[in-house]
Amino acid sequence: MVIARLPIPARMVWQWGIEIMGKRKDTAWQARDLAQKYLKNIRQAIPLSDEQIAVMCRVINADDHRVNTVLDLGCGDGILGAAVIEHHPDARGVFVDFSEAMIEAARKRFAGTASQHRFVIGDYATSDWLSLVADDAPYDAIVSGFSIHHQSDERKREVYGEIFDLLSPNGVFVNVEHVRSPSKWVESRFADRFIDALYDSVTRRDPNASRDEIARAYYYRDDKQANILASVEDQCEWLRAIGFSDVDCYFKLFELAVFGGRKTG
Ligand SMILES: C[S@@+](CC[C@H](N)C(=O)[O-])C[C@H]1O[C@@H](n2cnc3c(N)ncnc32)[C@H](O)[C@@H]1O
Repeated sequence: MVIARLPIPARMVWQWGIEIMGKRKDTAWQARDLAQKYLKNIRQAIPLSDEQIAVMCRVINADDHRVNTVLDLGCGDGILGAAVIEHHPDARGVFVDFSEAMIEAARKRFAGTASQHRFVIGDYATSDWLSLVADDAPYDAIVSGFSIHHQSDERKREVYGEIFDLLSPNGVFVNVEHVRSPSKWVESRFADRFIDALYDSVTRRDPNASRDEIARAYYYRDDKQANILASVEDQCEWLRAIGFSDVDCYFKLFELAVFGGRKTG
């Protein structure tokens, strides 16, 4: 077909989530074993994860903001949405992920109250996902964790715009995200910190684990290729341009940032 011979600019390639030479790289996350590996070994090792979640909740709950509906985008097992619902037990959670294994894990987390929430298998690489979550809009809070960085910068901005449109007046968006280091040297400081955290976590289960092996696994991990990191400064600017207020990076440890804004006015 003629279309197969047309050169596709790299920008477009990522905009549509397609990779020229093969599969989309972000779909590595749809593999059940990656989901399980992340939930079992990585999630609890993320440095200062409790603090990130505490800051996220502090921003969402400020001024006694009432949350009746919360959307967790790229929810994994729903850890972030669950933290919001802990403060707002009557809130309805809408959990979106394109990995069946992750959605199963999220459903399991809410075993007793699953009927209060909605679990959606959906892909936000294009705006088609909006039709899957429209019924419960507007949302008083939208959270996302370590997920949107798999999209091109262009698509990230579009997703932030879509999130803005889904928010209720005074609704809050918080992204707990992997962001780009300003230099290779800073990137190395982050890698060292992350490998230390993984080492601490692994040696609790296996005291003989080798730090070198853990470092090797970190540098050659399956999902690394799928990362398209952007600086937190750029991303905050995009949020301001979209119309978010009180935009800030509320918390940061090297490449781990908690940032977002509110829909006011
Ligand atoms: C690193 S995990 C983070 C999970 C969870 N948010 C957390 O904080 O632990 C990234 C998640 O984003 C999901 N994801 C990545 N790209 C996605 C997309 N285009 N549409 C829906 N989910 C996506 C993956 O399946 C995975 O569950």
